[in-house]
Amino acid sequence: MSGPDQSNSAVSIEHLTVSYQTKPVLVDISLEVPRGTVVGILGPNGAGKSTIIKSIMGFVPRDFGSVRIFNEPVDDACGLVAYVPQRGQIDWNFPVTVRDVVMMGRYGHRRWYQSMRALDRAKASEALESVRMSEFMDRQIGQLSGGQQQRVFMARALAQESEILLLDEPFAGVDAATERAIAGLLAQAKEQNKTVIVVHHDLETAAEFFDAVVLLNRRLYAYGPPREVLDQGLLAEVYGGKLRNLSWRQEEAT
Ligand SMILES: Nc1ncnc2c1ncn2[C@@H]1O[C@H](COP(=O)(O)OP(=O)(O)O)[C@@H](O)[C@H]1O
Ligand SMILES: [Mg+2]
Repeated sequence: MSGPDQSNSAVSIEHLTVSYQTKPVLVDISLEVPRGTVVGILGPNGAGKSTIIKSIMGFVPRDFGSVRIFNEPVDDACGLVAYVPQRGQIDWNFPVTVRDVVMMGRYGHRRWYQSMRALDRAKASEALESVRMSEFMDRQIGQLSGGQQQRVFMARALAQESEILLLDEPFAGVDAATERAIAGLLAQAKEQNKTVIVVHHDLETAAEFFDAVVLLNRRLYAYGPPREVLDQGLLAEVYGGKLRNLSWRQEEAT
């Protein structure tokens, strides 16, 4: 096996171990994500999927190991990486409009003493347009449906214009329109050679959305092309045998 191409590395995790109190939730994870790759992270509830995303952001302390972004160790990845947290981790009742939320994505482009400029407003509008939420610009965020809120947070991440996007379960519990919008964004990010890491709960759609998938349950079981990683035997091991067969595997068999 040849080693990873360092010059092309977007996110590089080496021997990462993370515990909450004394309970280890990630054990010796190593993962190399080349620039321009769209990666899905799959695994059962409590597998540590959100924790691995938070580790890349530098939000959780590491027991051991390292995270590098574009080959640099980072303490604070906020300027380099756009992050959309899992729903339920966001307080939707704060009194801000859709426009305010998306404009937050532009703060990294301004000094504290600079006001937002026409460029920032244009980028925010463009991002809202790409998730089909322009007409809701002046709405309070708390008044939107779950799927609409998800799209607004995706727009904020887009407005940030980061090279790396981390999305924690963007497809969970969304309507069909939002699913299409998010799938479109992944395709668009791919075209722009951005690097996207997506926590995903649906094995059925993984092969459609991702170049590569990670199978995680406290440790890393597999990482590679979806159709290689989503092996029934391995899935049974990681998910504890509680899985139905994947429909695309059955289609291939017939
Ligand atoms: N802040 C925290 N304090 C203590 N335990 C936590 C905390 N966050 C997550 N955990 C625990 O760590 C494990 C992994 O959590 P998480 O990364 O959220 O998993 P996933 O996103 O795969 O469902 C779970 O057992 C969860 O209960
Ligand atoms: Mg999670």
